Amino acid sequence: MRELIDKLEKNSVLGLSEYAELIKNFTPELSEYLFEKSRNIRHKYYGHDVYIRGLIEFTNYCKNDCLYCGIRRSNKNAERYRLTKEQILDCCESGYALGFRTFVLQGGEDPYFTDDLMVDIISSVRERYPDCAITLSIGEKSYGSYKAFFDAGANRYLLRHETANCEHYGKLHPKELSCENRKRCLYDLKEIGYQVGCGFMVGSPYQTAENLAEDLLFIKELQPQMVGIGPFIAQHDTPLKDFKNGTLELTLFMLGLIRLTLPDVLLPSTTALGTIHPRGRELGILAGANVVMPNLSPTNVRNKYLLYDNKICTGDEAAECRHCMELRMGSIGYKVVVNRGDAINFHQINSYK
Ligand code: 5AD
Ligand code: FES
Repeated sequence: MRELIDKLEKNSVLGLSEYAELIKNFTPELSEYLFEKSRNIRHKYYGHDVYIRGLIEFTNYCKNDCLYCGIRRSNKNAERYRLTKEQILDCCESGYALGFRTFVLQGGEDPYFTDDLMVDIISSVRERYPDCAITLSIGEKSYGSYKAFFDAGANRYLLRHETANCEHYGKLHPKELSCENRKRCLYDLKEIGYQVGCGFMVGSPYQTAENLAEDLLFIKELQPQMVGIGPFIAQHDTPLKDFKNGTLELTLFMLGLIRLTLPDVLLPSTTALGTIHPRGRELGILAGANVVMPNLSPTNVRNKYLLYDNKICTGDEAAECRHCMELRMGSIGYKVVVNRGDAINFHQINSYK
């Protein structure tokens, strides 16, 4: 197995069956062998810096019905909320004071936030924070909508592809949603000039090692600036509630493989990883990740954006999370930095700033 990791390090890609073989046969020893390499590559490009993104979860209304997700429209037990533009700007203001230079506006696919309203919100944030990056994470839209948001000042877009295998995609989503449209969105976003993030869940129901290998080949092809992954965590009010959670070990192993596959990619150590293990986010950094995304949402709505069970940090103030993150990263020899943390493999062509 070590030869395959050496080969991946050398070529930055493997064949489908080679990736799958590694994923099927990984052990703690092999993981350590991988992480030493993935950390080295991460240090070469990013040193010991950790980029922070301020996450603003501004609506948990969603018109979609993804089978794994706690804010799916059929979940009648989800307590719904929306933030106003003023509340969003307040989050940015406190975030800026705490050293955040990227704001991630994330939400369900909520028709209340029309394109005009989003353009208004994006332009207001852009006007007040010309030195910050604006990241959107609001799902599948048309080329025209994505273009309008970009022209209003958004720079980046996160849209996890969830799984690159369309048959697997069909088992996790209702029939109105398609794997093809999701991928179309990602290519549209790239064409418009966004820095793009894709990603997937590890250990999602029905997932095979080959599916994960396909995810790696898909990201190799798409060449995103960012890849967000985390373990699947069952949510008690969803149809997939009885499935097992993804594991810490496999998620870390996948982080290492992604780092070797796209050496300079931005790789977050996610909240879901921190949820399945008390030091999950630290371990993610030690496997090659270089980004963390603490929450800036107001405390009174934090405990309502519950995509999965037992989500961490739902009772903490933004300042507490910021401080906590500083300590956590410091404890493993890394440093949270105050800057936009742009992708280094991205050459702005027609971007706003
Ligand atoms: N477990 C883990 N991750 C989840 N997501 C949604 N539901 C769950 C869950 N039950 C992830 C999806 C989505 C992102 C915002 O959160 O990958 O794209
Ligand atoms: Fe939120 Fe630790 S990061 S409390």
